Amino acid sequence: MGVSVSFASMPSILVVDDSPSLVHYLKTALSAARYHVHTAYNGREAVEVIKSRPVDVILCDLQMPEMDGKKLRRKLMAHGRYSRIPFVAMSAHDTAENFNAMRELQAAAFLTKPFKPEQLFIVLSRLQEEARLQELSERRLVRLEKNLLVRSIVSLAQALDARDNCTRTHSVAAARVAVKIAARMGIPRADIRQLFIAGKLHDIGKIGIPDAILQKPARLTEEEFAVIKTHPQAGARILAPIPSLREAAEIIHCHHERPDGKGYPRGLSGGEIHFLAHILSIADVFEALMSDRPYRRGLPLEETLTIMSGGRGTQFHAECFDSFLILVREGCFAGVGKGREGAAGATCPDPA
Ligand SMILES: [Fe+2]
Repeated sequence: MGVSVSFASMPSILVVDDSPSLVHYLKTALSAARYHVHTAYNGREAVEVIKSRPVDVILCDLQMPEMDGKKLRRKLMAHGRYSRIPFVAMSAHDTAENFNAMRELQAAAFLTKPFKPEQLFIVLSRLQEEARLQELSERRLVRLEKNLLVRSIVSLAQALDARDNCTRTHSVAAARVAVKIAARMGIPRADIRQLFIAGKLHDIGKIGIPDAILQKPARLTEEEFAVIKTHPQAGARILAPIPSLREAAEIIHCHHERPDGKGYPRGLSGGEIHFLAHILSIADVFEALMSDRPYRRGLPLEETLTIMSGGRGTQFHAECFDSFLILVREGCFAGVGKGREGAAGATCPDPA
C-alpha cells in the first residue's frame, strides 16, 4: 500500500503541515476541486499515512516539529517505492538553502507561502499529466517486450516447422482457420488474438520430441504416440513464463482434448476444456486432413467433412463445428490444404 504512481481518476493528495488552520484550508480547497485528501501534522504521521493508503502526491511543509519536510523527503528517498511519489514542498522561507535542498531531494515543485489554491492546482495538473505520460510509455514498453517475446517464440515454432516436414506451415494455416471460425461465432477480439497466437504455436511442445518419432514417414507405434502426447503440456510450459499469454498457453494445453473426455493429455471433457481450444481442435484436424502427409495425399473436401462430421459432439464441440461447417459451405476455406492458407502440412501423427 501507500504508493500510487499512476494517478487515479480522483488523485489522492497528502497534505502535511503543523498548522491545523492551513491543513484545513488546503483540505477544503482540494476537496472542492475533487481531490481525495489525507492529512498529517508532521513527517512521522505522514510516513504512517503513506504506508497505509494510496498517495499520488505529497504536499509538505518544510518546517515542522518531530520530523520536518526535508527529513521526511530523505526518508522516502531511501525507499524505492515511496521515492516515486511526487513531493511538492511548501514554505514561507524561500531561501536559497531551502531551494537547493529541494532541488537536491528532487522535489517536483516548491510553493512559497502564502499561495493561492489555483497555483497549487496548476502544479497538480502538471504532475497528473506527467504521470499519465509515464504510464503510457511504461505500457508501450510492456507491449514491446511482449511482442519481442512472442516473436522469439514464433521463431522457435518456425525452427520446429523447418525440422518437422509434417508440420511445415501447418500451424499458421490452422491458426487462420481457427480465427475465421471464432470471428464467425462472435468471439471478442482480445480472445481471438490469444487464439491466433495459440494456433501458431500449438505444436511448439514437439520441439523436445526426438526426430526419429517426429519425422517418421509412417504411422506411429503406441509407445511413440505416447511420446507425442506430451507435446500439449510441454507447449503450455514454454508459454507459462509470459503472463499475457496465459490464455494461449491453456488453449495449447487443451488442443487435443475432446468434449467426450477421450482426448489427451488430461482427458478433460465438456466445460473443463478451454472453449477456444474446441475451435483450434477443429481447425487443426481440418487443415491436417486436407493437406498432404509424407505417406498420403491430402483428402478431398467432401471426404474430410464426412470424416469430421462423425465426430460432431464427441470429438468436436457441436456448436463450434456447426459454425465451421457454415464457413466451409460459404467457401471460406477454399485455399486450405492447397498451399494458399499456408501450404500443405499435417498435424500430430496418428497412432498405429
Ligand atoms: Fe498438436
